[in-house]
Amino acid sequence: QAFFKPIQNTAPPSPTKRHTKIAVVGVGNVGMAIAQTILTQDLADELALIDAKPDKLRGEMLDLQHAAAFLPRTKISASVDYALAAGSDLCIVTAGARQIPGESRLNLLQRNVALFRAIVPALARHAPESILLIVSNPVDVLTYVAWKLSGFPSNRVVGSGTNLDSSRFRFLIADHLDVNAQDVQAYIVGEHGDSSVALWSSISVGGVPVLSFLEKQQIAYEKKTLEEIHKEVVDCAYEVISLKGYTSWAIGYSVANLARALLRDQRSIHPVSVLARGFFGIEGGDVFLSLPAQLGRGGVLGVTNVHLTEEEAARLRDSARTILEVQGQLDL
Ligand code: NAI
Ligand code: 2OP
Repeated sequence: QAFFKPIQNTAPPSPTKRHTKIAVVGVGNVGMAIAQTILTQDLADELALIDAKPDKLRGEMLDLQHAAAFLPRTKISASVDYALAAGSDLCIVTAGARQIPGESRLNLLQRNVALFRAIVPALARHAPESILLIVSNPVDVLTYVAWKLSGFPSNRVVGSGTNLDSSRFRFLIADHLDVNAQDVQAYIVGEHGDSSVALWSSISVGGVPVLSFLEKQQIAYEKKTLEEIHKEVVDCAYEVISLKGYTSWAIGYSVANLARALLRDQRSIHPVSVLARGFFGIEGGDVFLSLPAQLGRGGVLGVTNVHLTEEEAARLRDSARTILEVQGQLDL
């Protein structure tokens, strides 16, 4: 006897209704912050958790499932087996070593490339149509590694990049001007890390271009103040890591913001790590770094032709060189 009596003569479900599945690989601080933000924002019908530690995995799965009465309905499953990723629209990779206080992101490379050699081909095999969204650090080089190891077209391999740094930047500018961070349009591009580049020339607040406004009003601003704000963006992850051991909440929201743009075909612009060769004079090899890119259901749809000053473009090319030097150590 079924619990519900079926209603007779119902129409079949609409063929246009899509079922959305997201796989999250790595259920540490970052993977779980992403998972819980995805659930609260109702971004998926199915959430598959994958990790190498079965007990931690089952514990995290049960703990999330026990919130079912307070959340939109999402089927949550967990396994050490990558077959669980089958049918995923989006695979988010957060597995791997994280920095100890004072350690740079680039220092994690060899350890995390070794893990990616197992993780990425398995995802590509089980979810060949998915978009790969890389979060593990150093995110730009690992996005390149994921592109190489997956064999996916570059529009379906993206790194969370400086979407997070740009949010930190917008927060600091908003705090400085006492406005809402959502009214601040500002981008950090380049490496998610120490060589990132602040695009001061294109910042606007409520539609007002900030630097040209200050210049027109002949209001003096000190380049030093601007450089200090950028330095704070670069340093603040180190500060959070030295205080609480890791960063998690902001990257959780940042990645959920990207998942929404991709899966709901938002066609919105985000600074994320994309194959950057040929843009803004970046040469010397295939390099992934953050540029303002349009995201939608097809993945990376294009790169915005944002105006860069000579100095900004030169810094961006330096950032590309830094990443390429590190990439040169790899044998893929
Ligand atoms: P964590 O140590 O809390 O979690 C890492 C997880 O990866 C663990 O659950 C571990 O069991 C799992 N793992 C290790 N090897 C695996 C394998 N072969 N297959 C599947 N799972 C495996 O670390 P946390 O804090 O979650 O950080 C994860 C990564 O995210 C680090 O590389 C960190 O640097 C990076 N991160 C990146 C950010 C960004 O903006 N791109 C922001 C914050 C962190
Ligand atoms: C972050 O910026 C550590 O990459 C990590 O929060």
